[in-house]
Amino acid sequence: MTPELNFRAARRILAHVMRLFALTAILAAATRLSFAAEEPIPALKEVFAPTFLVGAAIEPSQLRITTDVNLLRKHFSSITAENVMKPHRLAPREGQYYFGPADELVRFAQVNGIKLRGHTLLWHRNAPAWFFEGGDRAEIRGRLERYVGDVVTHFKGKVYAWDVVNEVAGDEAGKTYRESSPWFKALGPDYIEYAFRAARAADPDVQLFINDYDTEEPAKRANLMTIIKDLMKKGVPLDGVGHQVHTRVGASAKDVDDALKEVAALGLVNHVTELDVSVYEDPGSCAATRTDCKPDYGAAVPESVLAAQAILYRQLFDVFKSHPTLKSVTTWGISDSHTWLATFPVTRTNKPLLFDTAGKPKEAFRAIVEATPFGDKRI
Ligand code: XIL
Repeated sequence: MTPELNFRAARRILAHVMRLFALTAILAAATRLSFAAEEPIPALKEVFAPTFLVGAAIEPSQLRITTDVNLLRKHFSSITAENVMKPHRLAPREGQYYFGPADELVRFAQVNGIKLRGHTLLWHRNAPAWFFEGGDRAEIRGRLERYVGDVVTHFKGKVYAWDVVNEVAGDEAGKTYRESSPWFKALGPDYIEYAFRAARAADPDVQLFINDYDTEEPAKRANLMTIIKDLMKKGVPLDGVGHQVHTRVGASAKDVDDALKEVAALGLVNHVTELDVSVYEDPGSCAATRTDCKPDYGAAVPESVLAAQAILYRQLFDVFKSHPTLKSVTTWGISDSHTWLATFPVTRTNKPLLFDTAGKPKEAFRAIVEATPFGDKRI
């Protein structure tokens, strides 16, 4: 054997051993992790209070489900409206506002001493047609500014942070903006600046965020960073960056670390706004075009997958704790009983959160609250 072949063979064996090691760790975790029924569990919001708020996205209907309300009261210090503060829900017609369902969340938050994140003023989805129909540039800009002003004013003193714009960066390398957005088509990139300035004019104290997905991917992040730096250069009032972190088993926590670091270096606040860990290791084409999505596990998601999910949650929260600029971590849902991933990108069982369908803490929960959830094994 030449030295080179020797080296390759050694590398193959090493890779094999590493895989076995990882598998053993996952299996060990799977068997060791489960809370005894009577064991009291710590409250998430208390565990992480020194560093960040712990949030959940919710629908008003969940405020009538006892299990959900109990989980919210015990564990969460922040809530986000999963849907009822989006433009199509607040203002399906120009000038006619439906604040009722969102105000239910306001009341629940106030009564229980929970903070409320506003999500979201402008998005390419759920942007009602009335914003764009039969108007020139100035009129469309005027509608945008009126809408943002009205909504931020309504929630003034009740919402402490707004996702002012959602998903405005392009996905492909070098495509800075999402050009297919009706906002971009109507107003070009300036709509982002108009929205931030109108929000600040309505509430001088609320924190203003730009929110996006896949900030852990370098090409997408570069686009978002270009937008952020441009806004900062123009003196646009921007306080922080929301990282959705819709992630999946098999993903790398280091990529999230990189994203948080880049934002911190600009002197901005970080929020993790929509965290969930899908149990499916799909290729990118699944979310983009619904192709090659992994087949449904059905009700019985393998224990080994839930153990891998627990390990990733642990790695993510270790990263979160290491960032003083990170002030809030919100999961996109309370428990596996209600998750948007039940139908997105395709309809199938998914169990992406910290509590199971009965509201009981999962292995992922133990993994993030315990000092050494996997023994002293490095994860
Ligand atoms: C999702 C909701 O969870 C679904 O109920 C709704 O049908 C579509 O929107 N990124 C976002 C969130 O910023 O607003 C999305 O919420 C999930 C992806």
